[in-house]
Amino acid sequence: MVYALKQKPIPARRRVAILGSTGSVGCQTIDLISRAPEKYEVVALTANKNIKLLVEQARLLNPEFVVVADESQYQALKDALAGTNIAVAAGAAAVVEAAESDSDWVMSAIVGAAGLPGTLAAAKRGVTVAFANKETLVCAGPLMMKLVAEAGAQLLPVDSEHNAIWQVFDFERREAVARLILTASGGPFRTKTRDYMVHVTPEEAVKHPVWSMGAKISIDSATLMNKALEVSEAHFLFAMPPEKIDVIMHPQSIIHSMVEYEDGSVLAQMGTPDMRTPIGYTLAWPERMATPAAKLDLAKLGQMTFEAPDSTKFPALRFAGEAMNKGGTAPAALNAANEVAVAAFLDHKIGFLDIERINEAVLNKVDVSPLTDLGVLHEADAAARAYAAELTAKK
Ligand SMILES: NC(=O)c1ccc[n+]([C@@H]2O[C@H](COP(=O)([O-])OP(=O)(O)OC[C@H]3O[C@@H](n4cnc5c(N)ncnc54)[C@H](OP(=O)(O)O)[C@@H]3O)[C@@H](O)[C@H]2O)c1
Repeated sequence: MVYALKQKPIPARRRVAILGSTGSVGCQTIDLISRAPEKYEVVALTANKNIKLLVEQARLLNPEFVVVADESQYQALKDALAGTNIAVAAGAAAVVEAAESDSDWVMSAIVGAAGLPGTLAAAKRGVTVAFANKETLVCAGPLMMKLVAEAGAQLLPVDSEHNAIWQVFDFERREAVARLILTASGGPFRTKTRDYMVHVTPEEAVKHPVWSMGAKISIDSATLMNKALEVSEAHFLFAMPPEKIDVIMHPQSIIHSMVEYEDGSVLAQMGTPDMRTPIGYTLAWPERMATPAAKLDLAKLGQMTFEAPDSTKFPALRFAGEAMNKGGTAPAALNAANEVAVAAFLDHKIGFLDIERINEAVLNKVDVSPLTDLGVLHEADAAARAYAAELTAKK
């Protein structure tokens, strides 16, 4: 399924739903929207359990509908918003309802496969979906892209790498594209040894040298699993075969990614590392909007450096290729294993290098089925999670 960007007419004031509004991407989306309230009206917000922040956001933005996924938080949310006109609901089905609310722009910023139902529900409505939730595309790429095409939805990538590629990808002449080059900062352990990584703590691993992000993606950046997921994401989003997607280490994170064309031209998108630039591009597209991101000062920066990725030190880089080669439900199984392993590491239950051990074991063991429907996907996800949990317990 080839992704074609169809431009939809932009309403004078966009009606916005933010799935995962309390997270890093969600908060930065709200930051941008709050700077241009005449252009955006927020109609729905969702969180998992952080109702303190959710209530603050609701009071600031006065949406029609606010959802907390964790049902045990329902009464507290309801009490906190009593006396307002804001409708309140709880549970996973209510998150889908928020995605189905009468919005024309949906930010998909829930972390993990939990973001899948909401993202699919928004895409099914044929609206504009800014998607940060890469796990949706990794797990359900072919199903998602088919649905997007059928519903006439517009899928705008928020991930800085894919947003960069989108900005320089010639959709009219895709046959001239020779290669996608994803840049990777390398995370906090790029220059460390494997011996060093054996003992790192979650507190150390979440400290990304360049980006400030949620805990799960920060750990994925430290293992380089984030890049593995992004290769899958690029494969589905831009319909490029895995062998035409390369990764290069670029610790300064100034070039956010590149497209190489058959004539040797390489087009790059650059900017200071601030997620508000790609988020702003999805909010305003096809226009651009002012953002508070620092302007790039190349003279001050002085130099940019690049290195070949080291897949011996960071085996996660191999996993994306293996999962895509296996196809079907393999990427979803790898993603599920990784979610379980990262949660266990953050919980101090396993070591840092156990994450890759568990991911590799699950990828090698699980049965792969053709990705025919969501039922098959859920089964593969559950089986991979169960096996990963077993391995986590064994340690
Ligand atoms: N952060 C970045 O700079 C960045 C960059 C590129 C791509 N991304 C991608 O964007 C997505 C979000 O990342 P993030 O860093 O913003 O994550 P985050 O800070 O951890 O926020 C995740 C959001 O999802 C909600 N959530 C978590 N589990 C949920 C569940 N089971 N059901 C419903 N909602 C749930 C959280 O609610 P609570 O706050 O209540 O827990 C929060 O609103 C990820 O897929 C990530 O890979 C992030």
